[in-house]
Amino acid sequence: MNRIKEVRDQVYKMSQDKEKWQNPIGQETAKLLCNLINELNAKKVLEIGTSAGYSGLWIIEALLKTDGHLFTIESNKERYATNTKNFEKAEVTHMVTNVLGHAPEDLPAIPKGIDFAFFDATKRETISFLEGTWEKLNPGAKILVDNVDSHIDKMQEFIDYLDEHNYQYKRIHIDAGLILIDKPS
Ligand SMILES: C[S@@+](CC[C@H](N)C(=O)[O-])C[C@H]1O[C@@H](n2cnc3c(N)ncnc32)[C@H](O)[C@@H]1O
Repeated sequence: MNRIKEVRDQVYKMSQDKEKWQNPIGQETAKLLCNLINELNAKKVLEIGTSAGYSGLWIIEALLKTDGHLFTIESNKERYATNTKNFEKAEVTHMVTNVLGHAPEDLPAIPKGIDFAFFDATKRETISFLEGTWEKLNPGAKILVDNVDSHIDKMQEFIDYLDEHNYQYKRIHIDAGLILIDKPS
């Protein structure tokens, strides 16, 4: 047994204090994350932008079915301390490696062989997340990027980059709007 759902609900309520916490993922995005992880049978998942661990707890729930592991990076010390407590409270610390660090500089600490990645951090740094992650991805892996519609002013440069470099991707217009990128098999 674990306490994933109970702790996730507490984190969601706490995250509504928008001055202190940045937006957690929407409900449709949570479902999409879980479906993608299960369809891919993902064993190793990378997240950039843990915050208090709300999306991480959705990812971990999906990883219960695949016997997988989450590697997640957060640059803010206070949020890192909070997500550490939340993963402990949810009794899932064996399924997660939470890193206090800044991407892309601290991505070398993440092992290779990633099946799925989720980017939900500083939007203007998204190109550097992609470049820092690509070689760590297994063939056939996918990357999901959040806030593409809600932050289109900052994300247009990323979309242009994907087009210029012939990445295979599609836009998904749910919640804050996402991009799903495929690494060829
Ligand atoms: C929108 S919040 C993440 C929300 C979280 N994914 C969720 O749904 O519960 C973005 C987080 O990314 C962190 N962050 C921003 N830029 C970062 C970077 N370059 N590396 C690591 N963390 C970063 C911020 O401190 C913030 O906590």
